[in-house]
Amino acid sequence: MYSSGAGTRAAAKRKVCLLSLLLVGLWGRVACHESPVEDICTAKPRDFPLNPMCIYRSPEKKATEDEGSELKIPEATNRRVWELSKANSRFATIFYKHLADAKKDNDNIFLSPLSISTAFAMTKLGACNDTLKQLMEVFKFDTISEKTSDQVHFFFAKLNCRLYRKANKSSKLVSANRLFGDKSLTFNETYQDISEVVYGARLQPLDFKGNAKLSRAIINDWISNKTEGHIRDVLPEDAIDELTVLVLVNTIYFKGLWKSKFSPENTRDDTFNKANKESCLVPMMYQESKFRYRQVEEGTQVLELPFKGDDITMVLILPKPEKSLAKVEQELTPEVLQEWLDKLEETMLVVYLPRFRIEDSFSLKEKLEDMGLVDLFSPAKSKLPGIVADSRDDLYVSDAFHKAFLEVNEEGSEAAASTVIGIAGRSLNLNRVTFRANRPFLVLIREVALNTIIFMGRVANPCTT
Ligand SMILES: *[C@@H]1O[C@H](CO)[C@@H](O)[C@H](O)[C@H]1NC(C)=O
Ligand SMILES: *[C@@H]1O[C@H](CO)[C@@H](O)[C@H](O)[C@H]1NC(C)=O
Ligand SMILES: *[C@@H]1O[C@H](CO)[C@@H](O)[C@H](O)[C@H]1NC(C)=O
Ligand SMILES: *[C@@H]1O[C@H](CO)[C@@H](O)[C@H](O)[C@H]1NC(C)=O
Repeated sequence: MYSSGAGTRAAAKRKVCLLSLLLVGLWGRVACHESPVEDICTAKPRDFPLNPMCIYRSPEKKATEDEGSELKIPEATNRRVWELSKANSRFATIFYKHLADAKKDNDNIFLSPLSISTAFAMTKLGACNDTLKQLMEVFKFDTISEKTSDQVHFFFAKLNCRLYRKANKSSKLVSANRLFGDKSLTFNETYQDISEVVYGARLQPLDFKGNAKLSRAIINDWISNKTEGHIRDVLPEDAIDELTVLVLVNTIYFKGLWKSKFSPENTRDDTFNKANKESCLVPMMYQESKFRYRQVEEGTQVLELPFKGDDITMVLILPKPEKSLAKVEQELTPEVLQEWLDKLEETMLVVYLPRFRIEDSFSLKEKLEDMGLVDLFSPAKSKLPGIVADSRDDLYVSDAFHKAFLEVNEEGSEAAASTVIGIAGRSLNLNRVTFRANRPFLVLIREVALNTIIFMGRVANPCTT
């Protein structure tokens, strides 16, 4: 479809809105219906020649991890998928720091770095020149071997297969992508095809110019639907205007049951000490059990709570009372994190964890610009010739939005009723190792085998509900 009237009127700069949407965890009930495994999950690279318009080559041939990385590629894992997963984790920790810098110590933070990487990889598919280069650098796709970066989309598809297939067994982890394009434009067929094969993102034409309001409502409804109603109104009022031509959406939804539940009768109101020295009352859950745990440098405690199925876990990082979480955040790198996770050992301990729900939403643009992703957002410099059919060079990303929530509770009423675990009250055993999350802590939800960080956040004030 092409309307020449609209075409000429829009000789002015157009813009592309990109949106990464995200969502998360309830320990509710687990539903086990999942989409069938797609072809791409069993395909070889040559079966899907996913050639984007431009390919980026690092000029000084960065020494890739090729030599060192044989260390710990997990079993039955494609090395390229592993590299990509590591690149995503690198991006996650760096982005998190930028975000934390921009927030007050008392603010909660929650996001899905995986969702953000996925949405921008979809954009990268149509990018060239410096716009492409900056995408490669900021999202750390340039730290992986050349073969992988050429085919980053193919391996993204493989990574997704792996994540969502695993989740099928126990927890519910669902991702949905979609492109919404202005109906007056003709989008590049190759772009649409790759986007559909790799990300399952079909293009839905909308009338952005004629009816921005309705378009916004349709997109927000779609997102709400894909996240079971938990994420609403991601696109703010004025996000879509007559210059918008494309909106990319990525959503992730996770719901898991604890492998070892908290018993509701052991939950008591308790004091949570916020970073600003104020305190508040929060329902504090309690259990005594064996978990992977370690006290690492400077008294920081690291605890891993598995969800049913053991493929996805929640990692909690709690500094000792005298050390601020901000300090731990500053020191956190993918390497440090990996080192900590490697050290965890089965330990019998007492766990106190607040029951809470946090929600976070923000624009990604400023933070990504700080990290070097500049051209993509610049009307003058952006190069996205692969997206529309006539290779016009006036597309740019006007903004990118992210929204996420996390809910943690004992685990869901029904399962609690059927499983009466006889832990009677709180232990008086003072010798037991205690993990008491009564002050700000970090939380990660990760896929264990690949160590993919699906969600990441900071619980600084759980007393919000
Ligand atoms: C669409 O993109 C591909 C590369 O991905 C390019 O080869 C092709 O020429 C483009 N088609 C049009 C109509 O611009
Ligand atoms: C990318 O850069 C090359 C060389 O600098 C130039 O010839 C080409 O036109 C640029 N491509 C786009 C899409 O701007
Ligand atoms: C996912 O679950 C569905 C329904 O339980 C089952 O039919 C399917 O085979 C599962 N897929 C995988 C890869 O385990
Ligand atoms: C929401 O999803 C259900 C199925 O999951 C579908 O039947 C319904 O049409 C969707 N609604 C919208 C507004 O997309």
